[in-house]
Amino acid sequence: MIPPGVVDAVEADVHRLCARYAARLQFHGWHHVNFVRTKAGRFAVLNGAEVSVVETAALVHDVNYLVLRNSAAAAGSGLRCAILARAGVPRHVAAWIDRIVDEAEMASRGKDISLEAQALSDADTLFKALPVTPVVLAHKYLEENGIGLRELANKICGEQQSVHDEGFYFYNAEAAAQYAHWAAANLQLWQCIRESLDDADVSALLETVSGSQATA
Ligand SMILES: [Fe+2]
Repeated sequence: MIPPGVVDAVEADVHRLCARYAARLQFHGWHHVNFVRTKAGRFAVLNGAEVSVVETAALVHDVNYLVLRNSAAAAGSGLRCAILARAGVPRHVAAWIDRIVDEAEMASRGKDISLEAQALSDADTLFKALPVTPVVLAHKYLEENGIGLRELANKICGEQQSVHDEGFYFYNAEAAAQYAHWAAANLQLWQCIRESLDDADVSALLETVSGSQATA
C-alpha cells in the first residue's frame, strides 16, 4: 500500500525531528517511536492489518508531543499530515493514518477499533506495560510532560484499569498471552504508588528528595 521508499522517508523525517528535539522528548523520543514501529509491524502481520500503513502510523503516532506538551494525539494532526505529505503519502492514506492514530489512543480506545489501530495500540500499550518502563522511563515522562507522580499514577490507573478489566488491554490474543502478566503487575504497581502517596510519611519523604534534588 505504501511503497518502502516512502516509509523510509517518513522514518528519516521523524528520526530527524526526534534528534533535533531530543531534550523535549525524554519519554516519547526515537527509542519509543522505534520500539512501537517494530512491534506494531509484527502485530500487523499477526492480525492481517495493512503492515506498511501500521508501521507508518507508528512512526507519526506521537508527534503531538512536539506540538504541545502533555497533549492528546489529535494535537499532532497537522504536523502528522505535513510529515506524511513531505514523504509522498497520498492525502487519503494520510487521513486514514491520522484516524488510526486517534482510534488507538489509550484514553479513548474502544473494543471494536480497526485491525490497523489494534496493531498500533498493542505495540504502544506494550511499551507502557514493559517491566522496565516504570524503572527506567517513568521519571522521564514526568519531566517531559511537566506533571507530578500522583497525576501520572491517576492517569495510568484511570486510563488502563477499565480496558484491562473489560478484556481488551491487548487486542491480539498472542500479545495477551505473552504480556498480560506484565500489564497486571504494572497496574498493581501504579495502584500501590497511588496508595503510597496518601501516606503522609511517604509524601514527606518525596518532598525531601525533590527538595534535595532542587538544591543539588
Ligand atoms: Fe506512543
